[in-house]
Amino acid sequence: MCGIVGAVAKRNILPILLNGLRKLEYRGYDSAGVAVVNAEDQISRIRSVGKIIELEKALDRAPDIQGTTGIAHTRWATHGPPTESNAHPHMSGSRLALVCNGIVENHESLRLAQKAKGFEFQSDTDTEVIVNEIYQHIAQGADLLNAVKSTIKSLQGAFAIGVISADEPYRLVGARRGSPLVVGVGKDETFLASDMSALLSVTKDFFILDDGDIVDINGTNVTIMDQLGQPQQRQLKTSTLTAESVELGEHRHFMLKEIHEQSTAIANTLEGRITGTGLLEASFGADATQVFDDTRAVQIIACGTSYHAGLVAKYWFEELGVPCQVEIASEFRSRTHAVPDHCLVVTLSQSGETIDTLSALAEAKRIGYGSSLTICNAPESSLVRESDLVLMTHAGPEIGVASTKAFTTQLVALRLLVIALGRRRHLSMEHEAKLIAELRELPAKVDEAIKLEPIIKDIAEQFADKHHTLFLGRGTHYPIALEGALKLKEISYIHAEAYPAGELKHGPLALIDSDMPVISVAPNDRLLDKLKANIEEVRARGGKLIVFADVETEMSEQKNLTVINVASVDSSIAPIIFTIPLQLLSYHVALIKGTDVDKPRNLAKSVTVE
Ligand code: F6R
Repeated sequence: MCGIVGAVAKRNILPILLNGLRKLEYRGYDSAGVAVVNAEDQISRIRSVGKIIELEKALDRAPDIQGTTGIAHTRWATHGPPTESNAHPHMSGSRLALVCNGIVENHESLRLAQKAKGFEFQSDTDTEVIVNEIYQHIAQGADLLNAVKSTIKSLQGAFAIGVISADEPYRLVGARRGSPLVVGVGKDETFLASDMSALLSVTKDFFILDDGDIVDINGTNVTIMDQLGQPQQRQLKTSTLTAESVELGEHRHFMLKEIHEQSTAIANTLEGRITGTGLLEASFGADATQVFDDTRAVQIIACGTSYHAGLVAKYWFEELGVPCQVEIASEFRSRTHAVPDHCLVVTLSQSGETIDTLSALAEAKRIGYGSSLTICNAPESSLVRESDLVLMTHAGPEIGVASTKAFTTQLVALRLLVIALGRRRHLSMEHEAKLIAELRELPAKVDEAIKLEPIIKDIAEQFADKHHTLFLGRGTHYPIALEGALKLKEISYIHAEAYPAGELKHGPLALIDSDMPVISVAPNDRLLDKLKANIEEVRARGGKLIVFADVETEMSEQKNLTVINVASVDSSIAPIIFTIPLQLLSYHVALIKGTDVDKPRNLAKSVTVE
């Protein structure tokens, strides 16, 4: 949550900061601000409520603001509403400014102590105590770097910060604990940002800070120190991302772009991981074979959409005799566990920075779970660093807050893991070859499913005046129904719930009336007859159904039943294919509702607060 950018250069860095903020807007967008050290060695600060565009307008009204050292921030409110006074950068006095992503857990006690010393607070945020703390160390004679070093020792919580001082005009100090931070290295200029996407237009060379690192950018010198303050050599990495990969291109929204990119994302995720007939186990890491040989069960941990991918995989694992549990990370991390023997912990995450998932992994390690594996879309992320084995989803940057291609590529990666562990159980070589062949068909089948868009667009009209929707599915398609409901609620703000279709009669049937559309997915699998019976139960009570059905189910339109045929697919990949029309439906409903599709209210892409 929240995005940070900073720069020290020999040119005016305001355009760089603003461009970086635009790229980080997915991390939060309720207010934004910028502070630069100007030519008179004063700090100029501008903040505004709303998205980056509002900050740009405010800066247009203040054309004199320029500087060669500066910091900027886009906020997702945690402490205090989205007001100008709560927007970052926060200042202590007039010569020190700071941006922060994260939460200071002990802010209340620090605030009390600072108030007792006479500090007057300008905001309701937890961040302001940090800049006040730094101010006090500087007042006692410390330079900016040492003041930051001393301050972070007194902070509890997970955060990343960037700080500038008008008294050291070419210096920018950053630090990370828990939240991500990268240092971009240009020619005679250095940058700081929450992720690489923010800086791709100015550099492709990055130091990825380790947890606990502090960075001192002083003129053209960059010094990275570990949490003990000891200088460290971190490897300079060249990003393979292109600036275009984080641009909208011809598409109206990132979500639509990312839905359409799914066949390529899936092909990229499979590339180099499978041969003609089998899986290349080394794709998971050098120790994969040893870890998989030792694995007797799987514990999946994830949040939101990634959790739904985990729920699908549970059916897949257990079908091949591999016991599997799936738990929401925030629940996993805060309860007592009976730890199973030889249990592989699998985390799923698009961002690799979701704090609940990271904390749950730390907890799993602490209480004695076995090895860990992450399926992740962000190569240099914390989850990747913390895990023994890694299988990257090669979906490319996902900018739209509603996850689409990250989900389908997670499912593909999970199928590879299911094959790897299934080999040690019920999976024969012939069966493996069949599953691999089905995976190879996926990109073409995904593109076929995307062709349903014009029909789905028409159906979306029916939702214009609706307030509630029910999604139904059975077996592996129950999690797909959950995912469909999540997509609809997060971007169209229509209340949506998902149920296993067989559970309807145990309560939810009472909700059915002609005003609440019921959406179901109907693959051609062994549960089809039961699902058809559940659909009839809804129709008999006046409910209006929209069913996405495998063409071979031969379901036909009837009163109160709209059927959209989906090309026939094998049951092993059906959940991936049936996800596509549900993504498109939520997208087109959101368009009709006029919401901000890529930046739905109250949400942020990377959830780095608990
Ligand atoms: C919903 C969505 C979220 C994320 C969740 C976990 O569309 O994107 O539910 O799936 O916040 O994020 P990651 O996968 O980055 O850990």
